Amino acid sequence: MTSNVHQLIDTLPKAELHLHIEGTLEPEMMLALAKRNKITLPYDTVEDVRAAYQFDNLQDFLDVYYLGMSVLIEERDFHDLTWAYLTKVHADGLTHAEIFFDPQAHMERGIAFETVLAGITSALEQAHRELGISSKLIMCFLRHLSEEEAFDTLACACKHKDHIFAVGLDSSEQGHPPEKFERVFAEARKEGFVAVAHAGEEGPPENVANSLDLLGVSRVDHGNSALKDAALTQRLAQQQTPLTMCPISNLRLKGIPDLSAAPVKKALEANLLVTVNSDDPSYFGGYLNDNYRAVADALTLTEPQIVTLARNSFKASFLEDSEKQTQLDRIDAQVARLRPA
Ligand code: HPA
Ligand code: ZN
Repeated sequence: MTSNVHQLIDTLPKAELHLHIEGTLEPEMMLALAKRNKITLPYDTVEDVRAAYQFDNLQDFLDVYYLGMSVLIEERDFHDLTWAYLTKVHADGLTHAEIFFDPQAHMERGIAFETVLAGITSALEQAHRELGISSKLIMCFLRHLSEEEAFDTLACACKHKDHIFAVGLDSSEQGHPPEKFERVFAEARKEGFVAVAHAGEEGPPENVANSLDLLGVSRVDHGNSALKDAALTQRLAQQQTPLTMCPISNLRLKGIPDLSAAPVKKALEANLLVTVNSDDPSYFGGYLNDNYRAVADALTLTEPQIVTLARNSFKASFLEDSEKQTQLDRIDAQVARLRPA
């Protein structure tokens, strides 16, 4: 691998568009918060926590993910979690983040929606002021829960439209297809929220098509299985529907046998608006640039392909066109700096 590719990865401005804030909880913080909040975990040491991060599929991971987040209680816990993520990826060249959160996983433990939201948003505002990072929040519905519970959660979000930009759909894809939430998403879009959904992570290409057709999503999270369907791939290319892929996540959840099977290059070659993201970086052992490096090495991506991925991260974002242009200009300036004419 040429060092130029790695130099580009290390220094290009980038956006992250597929990141579950609860999935950034590092073992050290998990244990510290467990102590601070007097929560009992089945782990005593950082090594115990890391030893639990062996997953055979999405559900294996989700069980550990929901257990881990049980230490998040107070507003400052959500603030500290979010701030730790932002400072870490600031060093990766991140200048914009569109962040998922899972309020239902906290509310069912008795934590108020407003506690979660206030902690996350105060860190986002601090990052804007102090690190120059812009952001948007995406509230996810847990698809293993009922339509009725999703409607109740949407009602909470409607009181905070100033802080929540979009709604998403995550958790167990198997057995919980997009059509289960068609009415919730219709209502959410009527209320002015942009829509995204996880689809085609473990589920079939139909879940991707139905997320577009029934949920009205503007972007598909993962979308891997879409590449198995030639007509759908062509549609995604033609519409330039963004896909937020997460290669190390796919590897760790055994969606792919090794990184050379990550569909990122195939998606680039099919002219899809594909992006690279970290999903749940603490649990999967890789932040944003680790994911770029992993696919660059495994798929021998070229320098222009790395630049395309960074450019795509802004094109696929929900920034205003003028803000996108500012970020794209910053990429061009960095490319010129690395390669003087
Ligand atoms: N897939 C589905 N739901 C999730 C994920 C994921 O990768 N991470 C957190 N919730
Ligand atoms: Zn995800």
